[in-house]
Amino acid sequence: MKNIAVLTSGGDSPGMNAAVRAVVRTAIYNEMNIFGVYYGYKGLIDNQIEKLNVYSVADKMQTGGTFIYTSREERMKTEEGLMLAAKNLNERGIEGLIVIGGDGSYRGAKELSRYGIKVVVMPGTIDNDVTCTDYSIGFDTALNTAVDAITKIRDTTNSHNRVNVVQVMGRACGNIALYSGLAGGAEAIVVPEVKYDTDAICKKMLAGKERGKLHSIIVFAEGAGDLNTFCKEIEEKSQVITRTTTLGYIQRGGSPTAFDRILASHMGSLAVEVLSKDRTNRAICIRNNQYVDMDIDEALAIKYVFNSEVYRIAMELSI
Ligand code: F6P
Repeated sequence: MKNIAVLTSGGDSPGMNAAVRAVVRTAIYNEMNIFGVYYGYKGLIDNQIEKLNVYSVADKMQTGGTFIYTSREERMKTEEGLMLAAKNLNERGIEGLIVIGGDGSYRGAKELSRYGIKVVVMPGTIDNDVTCTDYSIGFDTALNTAVDAITKIRDTTNSHNRVNVVQVMGRACGNIALYSGLAGGAEAIVVPEVKYDTDAICKKMLAGKERGKLHSIIVFAEGAGDLNTFCKEIEEKSQVITRTTTLGYIQRGGSPTAFDRILASHMGSLAVEVLSKDRTNRAICIRNNQYVDMDIDEALAIKYVFNSEVYRIAMELSI
């Protein structure tokens, strides 16, 4: 394969630039032409495609966001959109496409392969909800951002002897909440995967208060329900002043951690290797510390399992 392209899709995540860099440099090292598709699938359909070179990715490894930009593109769900996307690639002689994004983006890639484009997908999302891989690019950075914020919020919560409910991202997945709650020593972690009980949470917090605990931190996943209703209930039942903090998009930005840079570099290198062997419909993953590729359909069929063991440990440690 001589000509390949790369795009980023869906919510951006720290490490996407390191992933694009790895794809670009590996392709050039292997004497392939590499094209960048700007604005994800939107740019693919609208023909915003440019050839990249080694310098296009200079000084990008350490940066957050995605320098080739991203989008959430509904037209990829239509035959018309898919046809245009394939046409734009075919006209440049581009045979293979690497897509970096969440599992929604995997579906677009799979559909595009019906039009003869060879596709390889890589997990790029802060949510860590791509079930075929133990880690997605950006999760570790977002997690560290959340833990840093919780640590700071803990100081002021302590000074005022309050409760602070910190809402983190993750869509329908509780992974950012679970792991930041554990690492941040939260008294409670509210995730979509486990039904919450405000009576039990208040009982635990008040028992801690009696033993001399000065504050309580509750980490609340955005998919777990209505934040304000939850906080009102906690304040009414505990009779402790309760504040909320929504971390929001701060979790999606910033310089990627070493972990995310390394993950992105390995995955980008493997993605090009897989394409260079003319393989298609492959998903790049890290499983049990091994970098592997698997069929996209197989990857998408893997069921999500919430790590209830980590949840149990977090709850036991925060008595
Ligand atoms: O998928 C990443 C994510 O940041 C989710 O955690 C969040 O629910 C969503 O994207 C927000 O999407 P948007 O950027 O469209 O507001």
